[in-house]
Amino acid sequence: MIRIHLGDNLPYLAQLADASVDLIYIDPPFNTGKVQSRTQVRTEADPDGDRVGFGGRTYRTTRLGTRGYDDAFDDYLGFLVPRLEQAHRVLSPCGSLFVHLDYREVHYVKVALDTIFGRDCFQNEIVWAYDYGARATKKWPAKHDNILWYSRHAEDYVFNRDASDRIAYMAPALVGADKAARGKTPTDTWWHTIVSPTGKEKTGYPTQKPLGILERIVKVHSNVGDRLLDFFAGSGTFGDAADRCGRDVALVDNNPEAVQVMAQRFAGRVVEHSAARPSAS
Ligand SMILES: C[S@@+](CC[C@H](N)C(=O)[O-])C[C@H]1O[C@@H](n2cnc3c(N)ncnc32)[C@H](O)[C@@H]1O
Repeated sequence: MIRIHLGDNLPYLAQLADASVDLIYIDPPFNTGKVQSRTQVRTEADPDGDRVGFGGRTYRTTRLGTRGYDDAFDDYLGFLVPRLEQAHRVLSPCGSLFVHLDYREVHYVKVALDTIFGRDCFQNEIVWAYDYGARATKKWPAKHDNILWYSRHAEDYVFNRDASDRIAYMAPALVGADKAARGKTPTDTWWHTIVSPTGKEKTGYPTQKPLGILERIVKVHSNVGDRLLDFFAGSGTFGDAADRCGRDVALVDNNPEAVQVMAQRFAGRVVEHSAARPSAS
């Protein structure tokens, strides 16, 4: 079952019971200082179209719309920390929190999470490395995100290592045919392509994360029957991964466009919607 809630995540979190969630993944705005937006277009063959493509055929491009959310904060930690404190409160004793960020805020958030969870509950900083898009020429191009993993308990947590997909050896000739064919378990550096702008996975929502990354987190860090939560859900990639793996998941976003994208993405699946109630005053 997928539950989608439209509204600010802080009051949503505040009404959840203590220790009621087993795995939380969040991908908050990265504080890029701008509005994240993506314009979707449809290209169709049209003899009167204005674009000439392969074989001299002409095409017409229709602008379908722009989706986006604000990503500029004067006080980023002032925004995020109360939500991280709630995440800590609602996690079950063996639960885990994954926080997806990039170089802009990851170090400040790491220090805040060390205070909230305790340094002994920090388990990994996963680096998601990709290589796509424009390359800076005056410094090394930034082509990775950081995913911080904290467990509620320092030693007692879910880590189903064998449930992970396996990756290819870099030098298969050095390990023999059997090992090379099996592949190996990943390290804390995950090479994975971004969501292809023309691929099947694309929803048109800005900053959509790849399903492969989130499926690995769901499989390794939760069990069937666990309760999962993403309270910065966007296009619902974590929910998609959870549902494909047979987990119940709650998804929260305060942007109606995100909820619309999720409704399209999960068409035909079991989905329950709820929205923030207007305050009584
Ligand atoms: C980086 S995007 C998430 C992308 C998502 N992981 C995906 O794969 O599509 C961050 C989302 O957080 C949402 N958001 C920002 N502030 C929020 C708040 N206070 N409550 C709920 N959602 C919020 C934005 O609308 C945006 O959709």
